[in-house]
Amino acid sequence: MKKFDVIVIGELNVDLILNNIAEFPRMNTEILARDMQLLMGSSSAIFASNLSILGARVAFLGKIGNDDFGSLVTDTLEQSGVSTEFIIRSSEYKTGATIVLNYGEDRAMLTHPGAMEQLIFDDITTEIIQHCRHIHISSVFLQTGILNRIPEILRQAKELDISTSLDPQWDPSEKWDLNLKELLPLIDVFLPNTQEFLALTGQKDVHNALDSVKDYAHTIAVKMGNKGSIGCINGQILKKKPFLNDSVVDTIGAGDSFNAGFIYNFLQKKDLDECLELGNLTGAINTTSAGGTTSFENIEKVKETAMEQFDYRME
Ligand SMILES: Nc1ncnc2c1ncn2[C@@H]1O[C@H](COP(=O)(O)OP(=O)(O)OP(=O)(O)O)[C@@H](O)[C@H]1O
Ligand SMILES: [Mg+2]
Repeated sequence: MKKFDVIVIGELNVDLILNNIAEFPRMNTEILARDMQLLMGSSSAIFASNLSILGARVAFLGKIGNDDFGSLVTDTLEQSGVSTEFIIRSSEYKTGATIVLNYGEDRAMLTHPGAMEQLIFDDITTEIIQHCRHIHISSVFLQTGILNRIPEILRQAKELDISTSLDPQWDPSEKWDLNLKELLPLIDVFLPNTQEFLALTGQKDVHNALDSVKDYAHTIAVKMGNKGSIGCINGQILKKKPFLNDSVVDTIGAGDSFNAGFIYNFLQKKDLDECLELGNLTGAINTTSAGGTTSFENIEKVKETAMEQFDYRME
């Protein structure tokens, strides 16, 4: 019996979110923001937290600084039941941080990547990963310390009979330099959103994109925002309608919550249809309150939202 169901290999950071800004900031002036929140950021951490709340045993493997922001990140993960025993605290680097300036409908973000770029291949040891059934890697383009060695990490997992999933997330450089032909045979569940999948495959629509990789991919689930999701296994395509939410608060973290629902059912050996369904549900639940984790404080709240907002009884 493994100690964990899932180890998440990912980036960690905090978000300092400034709201109610009087006017957009200009150099050499000072203005006031009337509201402020300091929260754990990172899409990998949202995934880990929400998967843990759904009931999986989850640990995180990432790098933070030896500082207060690092403690905020580990405290928040632990509150959701995520083990932080494999998180490496470095005195050399600072915990990554993003300052988010919300101004009306617009936002400006400024990120110091710090320790999140410093996780390296040698940090991901067999000694650690042997403790899990499944490895999930996210935000690969933000993790420049391991980006070129992801095939090796996945191969190492496969040798230990560990299943794998990967969400590429957006590439800020927009170079989309991932060798899908090498990677996809090593990934049991590939979880891009539409734009990412099209950029990575160089195709113009999702069906062509799925067709272009079907000879060497296992399961693919493409997230399509308020259009739901589309899955593909052994070349068979399955489109799944969303749980419509007509009063979306925000969609921050919807993709990570989709991943949590999908992988939760995948680990229970459910079929593609049921994985897509729970993914769509948890993605939709995510949009009913602010940020990526507010709707996932505990499993009772998740089930209540499923019932009240989407008329869906969760097991
Ligand atoms: N407005 C909405 N109504 C209902 N469901 C939604 C809505 N927006 C998103 N979802 C659900 O959440 C899933 C993931 O959302 P989305 O496609 O935005 O992921 P993403 O682009 O990867 O997001 P992220 O920014 O978190 O990485 C969708 O596939 C859908 O099932
Ligand atoms: Mg995403």
